[in-house]
Amino acid sequence: MIKKVSVNSIQKFKDRDEKFSVLTAYDYSTAKYLDEAGIDVILIGDSLAMVALGYNDTRQIGVEEMQIFTRAVARGVSRAMVITDMPYMSYHTDVKTALENTSLMIKNGATAVKIEGCNEHTIQVVKRCVECGIPVVSHLGFTPQFLNTIGGYNIQGKTYDATLKILDDAQKLQDAGAFSILLEMVPEESAKYITENLRVPTISCGAGKYCTGQVLVSDDVLGKYSDFTPKFARKYGDMKNFIIDCAKRFDEDVKSGMFPSDSEVFHVDEECQKMLYCRK
Ligand code: KIV
Repeated sequence: MIKKVSVNSIQKFKDRDEKFSVLTAYDYSTAKYLDEAGIDVILIGDSLAMVALGYNDTRQIGVEEMQIFTRAVARGVSRAMVITDMPYMSYHTDVKTALENTSLMIKNGATAVKIEGCNEHTIQVVKRCVECGIPVVSHLGFTPQFLNTIGGYNIQGKTYDATLKILDDAQKLQDAGAFSILLEMVPEESAKYITENLRVPTISCGAGKYCTGQVLVSDDVLGKYSDFTPKFARKYGDMKNFIIDCAKRFDEDVKSGMFPSDSEVFHVDEECQKMLYCRK
């Protein structure tokens, strides 16, 4: 039997000074292949609002949709841990609503959820989630759901004070029960310092090589999403041009009569053919 990646396995990466990999997936087949490739954590990120649904930012997706994508991904995964991003305003208003919405993701196949930010409310949400058996990854640094209050896609933790503030938030969330802290767009030195001063593993999203885990959006890695590519997103494939090339060849084959071939159609037997064509 395949051993599933759990909160304990994630902690072991940190304890043994080893690294783990995280990629996003939003559909069954992609999740299946990432799992087969050995990716440790598959994140149904709310980045799907942008890369799969074509919105301008991540806040355009709701609890309803995240449940559908969580189910699809969970069905494709045997080993990896599945984490679902809690969408904008699904955990911000009160703890009861937060618990209702986070538990829906668990019921739909996620092992854990990710929530952004640190304030008295989110600390309480993390605490209550963990008390209810819902593991939480906390997301600090640049938090896309707070884009308007941050004022733009700005690097966070650029000064001594700003680094200590992120560390303080991370320690509070760790103490509330978060099993990992994701750091987005934080300078490498700051992320290193934060990582060294936490018990739980950190996950880098553009926060350098010293974090325990590394996350990227799979559409960036595969070269599928091309509207915008962040500095830290390494491209391993060129799916955009692969898709265009396949579609062009199909279009040509259809228009030249090369598709379908005899092996790609169903036939009736000879007798039936005769009857069909002898019919007046
Ligand atoms: O939404 C997402 O995919 C994320 C990652 C980029 C960390 O939050």
